Amino acid sequence: MRRSTVNVLGLLTVYVLIPRAIPSPTSPSASGTCTLSSSGSDDAPALLKAAADSACSTVTIPTSTTLSIQSKLNMTGTLNKHINLQGTIKFNPDIDYWTDNAFTFDFQDQAAFWLLGGKNIVLDGGGTIDGSGQAWYDAFAKDSSTLRPILLTLFQATNVTVQNIRMIDGPEWINFVNEGQHITFRNITISAVSTSKNAAKNTDGWDIFRSDDVVIEDSNINNGDDCVSFKPSSLGQYEGEYDIVQNVLATNIHMSNAQNGARIKAWAGKGVGSGLVKNITFSGFVETNVDNPIIIDQCYETSADDCAKYPSNTYIQDVWFNNISGTSSGKEKAVVASLSCSPDGRCSDINVNDINVTPPSKYGTPQFSCQNVQISGDAASLFGTCKTTG
Ligand SMILES: *[C@@H]1O[C@H](CO)[C@@H](O)[C@H](O)[C@H]1NC(C)=O
Ligand SMILES: *[C@@H]1O[C@H](CO)[C@@H](O)[C@H](O)[C@H]1NC(C)=O
Ligand SMILES: *[C@@H]1O[C@H](CO)[C@@H](O)[C@H](O)[C@H]1NC(C)=O
Ligand SMILES: *[C@@H]1O[C@H](CO)[C@@H](O)[C@H](O)[C@H]1NC(C)=O
Ligand SMILES: *[C@@H]1O[C@H](CO)[C@@H](O)[C@H](O)[C@H]1NC(C)=O
Repeated sequence: MRRSTVNVLGLLTVYVLIPRAIPSPTSPSASGTCTLSSSGSDDAPALLKAAADSACSTVTIPTSTTLSIQSKLNMTGTLNKHINLQGTIKFNPDIDYWTDNAFTFDFQDQAAFWLLGGKNIVLDGGGTIDGSGQAWYDAFAKDSSTLRPILLTLFQATNVTVQNIRMIDGPEWINFVNEGQHITFRNITISAVSTSKNAAKNTDGWDIFRSDDVVIEDSNINNGDDCVSFKPSSLGQYEGEYDIVQNVLATNIHMSNAQNGARIKAWAGKGVGSGLVKNITFSGFVETNVDNPIIIDQCYETSADDCAKYPSNTYIQDVWFNNISGTSSGKEKAVVASLSCSPDGRCSDINVNDINVTPPSKYGTPQFSCQNVQISGDAASLFGTCKTTG
């Protein structure tokens, strides 16, 4: 995958070192603040203890403190908690430990360092969550079965705000929202960049699964895969799964040097799943050097013949591409937009308005391609008559 940058706009206790015993936060202050400091060994037990202590309504990691996390963090069921991360939470890259101990999800065979769940949680403070990803990028290049943990997983979380945090060098996905509701991410800066020849692969900014009311705003992503991906079971990837992605608004987005801009993909062919993608708006995109600035691919990873025989059972309805401008990379030569649906009316109510995307000048005038779809909106004429297959 190409590296991509996107801006999503618009929308502990001073630990006194006691040589024995497990590090623990000092007693909460009268205001309920517990402040953590680093122990020189695994700081996970102290962080877990403070998070679980109802007397610690605020858990502070001060600016100069780096907590070294050497064992998994199960913070499900956390209640009414403010995690004030001014310093750094750094996951130790002990690949053998995490291989045996990370939390796992059946969904896309994922693993995780940290489950944060429960109710009424704020994670903020201007600090950093560091996944020590380089060791993982290098290990994965040698052995692609390496199970790389997700940096932060909101699991069964309700009413959670994560803001003013830098997330760096996650081994794999950066944020996973799994079975969450009323979740806001604001002013998050993500950077996952390899310093070796081994790319920072699959470092999605956000993956959203079986969740409702998720807002991501004023954030900046520099990574090696998807920026934000709404993926119940990854849109028809798995047989027997029915996926719904509904009521999505992506607005005021700036992106550069990416593979895909405003994109919907769904699987077709034999032995895949089914679903519905409905009421999706992409508006106010400014793209620079993007391979596929505007794209629907409803025959994802499926040959034309197979897609004709087994059209996608993931229906795509009520989609708006509004106010999209910028440049393509030229990877698709003059083609700057491709709305390609399975045969047999699997896409409906697809709208394009105010589109101004150009390829590199050597490719001449922009081309707009489409198949098996009827396009509406004031930019529909750019697409002409769509090809019909199947
Ligand atoms: C996390 O902890 C909770 C409660 O302490 C427990 O019920 C749950 O099974 C744990 N989750 C995992 C994935 O270990
Ligand atoms: C959501 O959480 C915040 C911060 O913890 C709290 O102030 C607020 O009252 C909660 N909202 C609801 C509806 O519970
Ligand atoms: C955004 O977060 C960063 C820390 O990552 C912080 O320094 C900055 O002040 C925050 N911006 C706003 C507007 O709060
Ligand atoms: C469509 O999605 C938007 C969010 O972009 C939401 O505000 C609106 O209510 C949805 N429309 C319907 C009919 O559900
Ligand atoms: C089009 O999108 C750009 C970039 O997000 C924004 O600045 C501009 O206001 C939008 N125009 C309209 C008419 O909404």
